[in-house]
Amino acid sequence: MPAPKKILIDCDPGIDDALAITLAHGCDALDLVGLTTVGGNVSLDLTTSNALRLREFLGFPQVPVAAGSAGALVVSRIDASEVHGFGGLGGAVLPEPRLKAHDGHAVDFIIDTLAASPGEISLAAVGPLTNIALAVRREPRIVEWAREFVIMGGSYTRGNRTPAAEFNIAADPEAAAIVFGAGWTVIQIGLDVSLTALATGQVLERMRGLGRLGSELLIPSLEFYGMTTAHDGPAVHDALAVACVADPGLFEFTPAVVDVETAGRFTSGMTVIDFNLRGRLPNANVARSIDVERFWDLTLESFAQAAARLPWPGGLPGSPRG
Ligand code: RIB
Ligand code: CA
Repeated sequence: MPAPKKILIDCDPGIDDALAITLAHGCDALDLVGLTTVGGNVSLDLTTSNALRLREFLGFPQVPVAAGSAGALVVSRIDASEVHGFGGLGGAVLPEPRLKAHDGHAVDFIIDTLAASPGEISLAAVGPLTNIALAVRREPRIVEWAREFVIMGGSYTRGNRTPAAEFNIAADPEAAAIVFGAGWTVIQIGLDVSLTALATGQVLERMRGLGRLGSELLIPSLEFYGMTTAHDGPAVHDALAVACVADPGLFEFTPAVVDVETAGRFTSGMTVIDFNLRGRLPNANVARSIDVERFWDLTLESFAQAAARLPWPGGLPGSPRG
């Protein structure tokens, strides 16, 4: 068994962010080294509180949680509370956190963490890209220090926030433009693929056997998510970015040149994805498909691992019982 891959997740929990974090914590192939938060689905205060609550509920008190940017670089803040609920985790209500967030800003935490272990840490961004943009602007070398950089964001077909723009990109188009222009090859998982990974009734049934992880987090959050999004089950977008770090073989990718529209009256936040390189170097590997069955096998196995390690309710943070 190769050594687990270190992963740092920038997120805006958010229901699917919560599943992504649970997957990262439970998966034997991954070693979660940090969470950074950004305003997105709900406010920064709530995304940070949710990350802290998840840390203690799942039982990884030693992993730092660093709060980042509340709003976008230029555009006014938008949120997705109509999809994720006002608290951000749908019908799941986790206990108040007792441990505090990391003292420093998320941007400095990202830079310092990658600088301390160059080439060793996979960076995954599953919310608006504001923290990542500020980090590459402050320290451009992070594009070399990151082992890889995976995002859930964008689309080469249609958006979900507008007909043209996916939420994470629409929430901060200028940040996304900076990130795609930073010199690394972004591993992009967009709606085109994430909308095929649905938490169907059959998947939910497999989650019902996961004890308190199922009854207190997965089911109440996904049942809410299912009511607020169409299809025959909610798409678990962000979990795909973490699954990609754990097993990139789940996906098929095509190199592309990705630009981000920042000035379009109707298209702001659109990822303009050109698979015809025309002699240009690609700045992204764009996911074109996922093996959904193998994705759910990996995810549910990781959830089962997380469920087996869940601390006792009300235990002291940091102790084996909570
Ligand atoms: O469009 C899906 C993305 O927007 C996911 O990251 C979800 O959490 C929301 O942030
Ligand atoms: Ca998210």
